[in-house]
Amino acid sequence: MSIIRQMDSKLANMIAAGEVVDRPASIVKELLENSIDAKATIINVDVTEMGMKSIVVTDNGVGMDFLDAHLAFDRHATSKILDESDLGHIQTLGFRGEALAAISSVSKVTLKTRQKQNEGIQVIYHGGKFVSDGVATLNEGTVVEVTDLFYNTPARFKYIKSEVAERLAIIDIFDRIALAHPSIRFTLSVDGKITKRTFGTNDFYSLIDQIYGSKMTEHMTIFNHMIQKVKITGYLLSPQISRSRKKDISIFVNGRYIRNYRLIQAVIDGYHSYLMTGKYPIALIHLEMDPSLLDVNVHPQKYEVKFVNESILAYAIENAVKDALIQKIHPIPENLNTIQKAKQDIFTPIDLDFGESILAESIANDEKDSNHDQLPKLPDFDYVGVFSGTYILFQNQDALYLMDQHAAAERIRYEHYFDSLAHPNQSVKQLLFENELKLTTEDKTVIRENEAKFNKYGFYFNSNMDLTGLPVWLNESEIDIAIEAMISMLTEKHDIDLSILRDRLAKDISCKGAIKANQSLNMNEINGLVKKLRACKNPYTCPHGRPTVIKLTHYEIERMFKRVI
Ligand SMILES: Nc1ncnc2c1ncn2[C@@H]1O[C@H](COP(=O)(O)OP(=O)(O)OP(=O)(O)O)[C@@H](O)[C@H]1O
Ligand SMILES: [Mg+2]
Repeated sequence: MSIIRQMDSKLANMIAAGEVVDRPASIVKELLENSIDAKATIINVDVTEMGMKSIVVTDNGVGMDFLDAHLAFDRHATSKILDESDLGHIQTLGFRGEALAAISSVSKVTLKTRQKQNEGIQVIYHGGKFVSDGVATLNEGTVVEVTDLFYNTPARFKYIKSEVAERLAIIDIFDRIALAHPSIRFTLSVDGKITKRTFGTNDFYSLIDQIYGSKMTEHMTIFNHMIQKVKITGYLLSPQISRSRKKDISIFVNGRYIRNYRLIQAVIDGYHSYLMTGKYPIALIHLEMDPSLLDVNVHPQKYEVKFVNESILAYAIENAVKDALIQKIHPIPENLNTIQKAKQDIFTPIDLDFGESILAESIANDEKDSNHDQLPKLPDFDYVGVFSGTYILFQNQDALYLMDQHAAAERIRYEHYFDSLAHPNQSVKQLLFENELKLTTEDKTVIRENEAKFNKYGFYFNSNMDLTGLPVWLNESEIDIAIEAMISMLTEKHDIDLSILRDRLAKDISCKGAIKANQSLNMNEINGLVKKLRACKNPYTCPHGRPTVIKLTHYEIERMFKRVI
């Protein structure tokens, strides 16, 4: 029995208009969504030459009959909605009846399909025009083969980015869809090689490990939360696996991957105190709600949805993430009593985390630098005490000074690394044992394809992309930060810009290993900190622009006490 119907023009006009197929990845998305809507439990995607040569999606879904296999290519022909009232409660991923028409208009499509009770059929369209139909041999399900993409629209071909960018975009959309459907077994093959595979076992640990790389789920936190009949489930990867980009925060609504700035920000805010500035987590948020509470007919590619109550949702997500992380990770002491107690219990010696010899060298270099004279030096002052476990107080006859110990340590470390990175292709130290990095499969692909650029900066890998050599200036504890910064620069800008890398790496590394707030320091350590800060080219701000030292003059204090006006 045929089920696809042509929409009437009124309903067709209500569908958000625009470009559905702009690159190979959007074809992969549309075909995967069709297979999911057809209730497939096994879906295979094969792409060749970044999808420009061919994209084949095979599913074991319900298939189509002879008439539907033809109707499917018509614009505004869908089996998923009947009239306008259906737009208010869409249960399927597709509903616009446009995807196959749009795909076939810019490529050559062969659709083979078979319903359980029928024999298999095949329909061929080229550039939106019917070519032929006939009988086909296949199991129950559908195979859509798209070849010669944009063969008839060379202008569109021009907008295709680099091969790596297109391949990553395909992998990215495959990942999101697979992460949204844990009970479906997905396989992605690129140029004949299996690149990604999930097992469809409903197990998020195995699913996330398959998508992001092994051991990613170590210390993962899972939460469930209900708010106003919306079920929120979160899979929060350890904050230690942070990224420089927000794109690994995925939001799903009723199995649909969506892009929603506000909800992504809510996740970031929930992670807030566990991540360095400019770092973002890997996290999945699944929302399940009545379809009438959202509008998916906002954007032609269906990435955006409108929620009835987005603010409440964002607030709930932020708090649920916070609560879940607090339960898993030991919280930073918040009130003074806890801090004082913690200080009596443990004494953590200062660790600037790089050898004294290197430090001495960096200070010596600083002192030679003539720019040094452009900023005023830190004044001489005497130590008074520590306030709130974080601010070291000093005084001289003019003023009281508060030094933020974390910001000061960050500045010192930043200048050290910034200088070291000025000549990043210095000697390489070989690792005795290969270092298995916490890398996703995409990360490894990016490294493999840019190995020469990594070599240039002193990073060497074996065939498994384990690290075998690293530049001498880098501590082994900071390898992950350095590699991650380089990968994100390569994915965003397709190259490593030394000046940006220098600043970014120096900032990330300096923050990570620096003395923390609430870390007890002894007198030697405080003196060392002041001495090293004095030696900095700019001792007054941390690399992120926050002050390292605040000065309250004698006059200002007197004015506060209303001794002077
Ligand atoms: N893999 C498939 N298995 C079974 N039926 C399919 C498959 N792919 C497409 N169809 C049928 O073809 C119709 C048209 O597909 P198409 O993707 O063009 O539109 P849609 O999915 O209804 O809406 P949208 O444009 O939002 O994707 C679908 O409504 C569905 O009935
Ligand atoms: Mg569709």
